[in-house]
Amino acid sequence: MSDESEVLLQAKQEFQAPANIIANAAISEAGYEKLYAESIADPEKFWAKIASEELHWHKKWDTVLEWNYPDYKWFSGGELNITYNCLDRHIAGGKENTLAYIYTNEEGKEERITYGELLKKVNKFANGLKEMGVVKGDRITVYMPLTIEQIVAILACARIGAIHSVVYAGFSASALRLRIEESQSKVIICSAYTKRRGKIILLKSVVDEAVDGLVYVEKIIVHQREEKFELVEKEVDYYDFIIDQSDEMTAEPMDAEQPLFILYTSGTTGKPKGVLHTTGGYNLFTHYTTRLAFDLKPDDIYWCTADTGWVTGHSYIVYGPLSNGATSLIFEGAPDFPDPGVWWGLIEKYKVTKFYTAPTAVRLFMKYGEAWPAKYDLSSLKILGSVGEPINPEAWLWYYKNIGRNNCVVIDTWWQTETGGHMILSLPACKQKPGRAGRPFFGVETDVVNKNGESLPANTVGLLVIKKPWPSALRTCYNDAPRFQQYWTEMKGFYFAGDLATKDEDGFIMILGRSDDVLNVSGHRIGTAEVESALVSCESIAEAAVIGKPHEIKGQSIKAFVILRQGVVPSETLLQTVKNHVRNELGAIGMPDEIEFVDKLPKTRSGKIMRRVLKAKELGTEIGDVSTLED
Ligand code: WT7
Repeated sequence: MSDESEVLLQAKQEFQAPANIIANAAISEAGYEKLYAESIADPEKFWAKIASEELHWHKKWDTVLEWNYPDYKWFSGGELNITYNCLDRHIAGGKENTLAYIYTNEEGKEERITYGELLKKVNKFANGLKEMGVVKGDRITVYMPLTIEQIVAILACARIGAIHSVVYAGFSASALRLRIEESQSKVIICSAYTKRRGKIILLKSVVDEAVDGLVYVEKIIVHQREEKFELVEKEVDYYDFIIDQSDEMTAEPMDAEQPLFILYTSGTTGKPKGVLHTTGGYNLFTHYTTRLAFDLKPDDIYWCTADTGWVTGHSYIVYGPLSNGATSLIFEGAPDFPDPGVWWGLIEKYKVTKFYTAPTAVRLFMKYGEAWPAKYDLSSLKILGSVGEPINPEAWLWYYKNIGRNNCVVIDTWWQTETGGHMILSLPACKQKPGRAGRPFFGVETDVVNKNGESLPANTVGLLVIKKPWPSALRTCYNDAPRFQQYWTEMKGFYFAGDLATKDEDGFIMILGRSDDVLNVSGHRIGTAEVESALVSCESIAEAAVIGKPHEIKGQSIKAFVILRQGVVPSETLLQTVKNHVRNELGAIGMPDEIEFVDKLPKTRSGKIMRRVLKAKELGTEIGDVSTLED
């Protein structure tokens, strides 16, 4: 850390972006304050203006917001097609030959695709899906790594109004099956395999296991790669099935509230929830936040390191950047293979200007040491984003100094699968406070409240809420309306985010982590109940309790306390069996880092496991009120 950074950190001073960023930015500090005040005074007027300026509408809306608590609709009566906004309109505007994506992988293979070519591919695929019998509203599960083929598949669904449900290609067969069943997908689009750290990871075989016996799955479209697999029965080849399809298709206008996608995310129960987003509000919000957060300019090369299996990929690799006509780099590979310089080499090679990653990655690179990025020319960089978990000031400053070379701005962005896009962030030309997520985005009214929903004074820890619906708010949980309603009923009619936060005198919000039984492991959300139910489905386990422990790189690690069934003897082999079992149930994401065999778990008299007690004991902190403890 430079002496300067250290002094700044100690003084808790604010940072300013470099003068050239401030001078050219779309929104200045004063501009933010003025526009924010306007957007809160009359959000409907604000969003109506932005919607007509930023998007193409086939038909203008009748009402900006219809709020029948807890349900809401945005731009009712309006019609648009998100793929028109992402593709056709840029081509109409002369950007046919502008690159949409540069794809690369760990073997250094490269593919470039322009907006003109992308539209043709999407049209062909969409025509193929139509001929297959896919109609508006059908659900399609996508199980693919980050490739151009995956993005084409996603956009083809959106073009014809099929609802995509992308499942991260690291999830296990049972996790995939659950998501296929919950969404009743009739088509699955998958890749044969991906390569990670030089090894082939089969995906098609995971799909085979997941769909076994699911009669309503009509077709499986397989993206074959260099190694070909024999396809049987319902399976068709990704390229063969569209060989005779036209590369033209008119973007059919969709109702603004036409469901766009479902994305499953963890909650406090064992079952993930299918967060549903719709077309108009989501398109608008992701478009506008992408443009302003990254202060996009026509010559930018933008790189978001997320995977399309998560919401960050949906909003800030696919829809937001495309809607803005941006050029994105995508990389199918690990951050430190073949060595920890791979990302910095890519930034140098492609002259990346805007870069968006997660604190867990920053902390991983901190561990590898600053000599790795120091080998590369990173002078093209201008804006560095952070997402997924709180970025601690040390990581913020390391990022600022070693990647940004004290010449970039680091912006934090707080949001969730449910919010669709950035809710709290530090716009690049506005003041920055390391360790604080920033201030609410336009039209977003946040507060920090106590358990009764009452606003708390500055610098007091409380629950983060959002007071009114915003355009990209989740519309429901698929086939589970009561779970959706909980978001708006738990906390006095506000949207309850589930995070702990404080707010300072300037209105800067600091996120302190989840207030519920949800863990954040390397920026990925996982419910303690999900891991526990995976554990107890193992035949040697009677009961299980899971807690999160602070972890230097991952943010949190998973520790499980397990009671074995009578007669089962603990052993090293058993430990491995249990770990493998959880991996099979959930995938690597849910695998406990530590498992401790115990005889008893702390419970309330009504039988609820007190994870808080386990956590306090594990971390050696204050146990707190244990009056309800049974024993
Ligand atoms: C949870 C949402 C948003 C895309 C990735 C995760 C945590 C997210 C931040 C941040 C502090 C953050 C919160 C939130 N989180 N971004 N900038 N600072 N915490 O999406 O899986 O839906 O998880 O991630 O706890 O509730 P998700």
